[in-house]
Amino acid sequence: MTSFHLLFTLLLVPLLSSTSRVILVIGADDYNGFVYAGCSQPRYDAGSAYEYSVDSVLTSLTNAADFTSYANFSSPSPPLVSGLLQCRSDLPLSACDSCVRSALSQLSTLCPFAAGAAVQLRACFIRYGNDSFLGKPDNTLLYKKCSADQGSGGGGGPDGSVSFIGMRDAAVGSLVGGAYRVGGAGYVQAMSQCVGDLSAKACSDCVSTAAGQLKAACSSSASGEVYLGKCYARYWSYNGGYSPSHVGHGDQAGKTLAIIIGLMAGVALIIVFLSFIRRAGNGK
Ligand SMILES: *[C@@H]1O[C@H](CO)[C@@H](O)[C@H](O)[C@H]1NC(C)=O
Ligand SMILES: *[C@@H]1O[C@H](CO)[C@@H](O)[C@H](O)[C@H]1NC(C)=O
Repeated sequence: MTSFHLLFTLLLVPLLSSTSRVILVIGADDYNGFVYAGCSQPRYDAGSAYEYSVDSVLTSLTNAADFTSYANFSSPSPPLVSGLLQCRSDLPLSACDSCVRSALSQLSTLCPFAAGAAVQLRACFIRYGNDSFLGKPDNTLLYKKCSADQGSGGGGGPDGSVSFIGMRDAAVGSLVGGAYRVGGAGYVQAMSQCVGDLSAKACSDCVSTAAGQLKAACSSSASGEVYLGKCYARYWSYNGGYSPSHVGHGDQAGKTLAIIIGLMAGVALIIVFLSFIRRAGNGK
């Protein structure tokens, strides 16, 4: 019985942990999921030269997204309108392209005729306007969200929330240097992304501001995200499993893969169990 139990544990634990990791990596994000949008008060007139400038910048953004994760453009003729796109730099360009197209397609509904606008989806950010934002640091808070579920739940240790906050602070604190960063501590993972027009110094300044706001605002929430003008930082946790708020956004591929791995684990268990029964039978 003991050896069977040991075998069971040895087999099951790696399978289960690899399953939850796969869900985190693949199913953690709905890449085109909406985060926030902001529109300027001033509007331009239909058919104006300004509209022509906006259209030319947005067309350039559409065309750029399938070969680069960061690009900026300015209108070829006055009035001057600039635009940029920034995708999560770790994702394939196909995801970037799809995300930017989705963001652009929502612009006319979200911000009709706005002189300037920004849209943040999970995997990409687009912005255009005549307010010369290009190349300038911007640590203004635009969007912040902390999950209602607490990080200490789901079978945490005896010192539950204290150690959770320690892990969260370490995970978020490890987001330094580089336009795209991932970090982690214990069962908390974190990531950050800067817009490509920032210098390395401005980027790390922005991310540490975002990290500070995450720590201050989200206390012991299981997940949180802070979006500033030119960067964002997020963290999420999985207590031996994964946070429900995250799986809620899971994409179909992630779910399917998780089901397949679950089935494989089940089949493996049945085989182990059958061979155990057989060996037990032979022993008699
Ligand atoms: C930007 O464009 C809007 C709409 O045409 C206009 O009202 C505003 O004055 C412009 N701002 C600048 C800085 O040119
Ligand atoms: C904008 O794009 C141009 C051409 O790709 C590039 O040389 C420039 O560095 C970019 N500017 C900023 C502020 O990112």
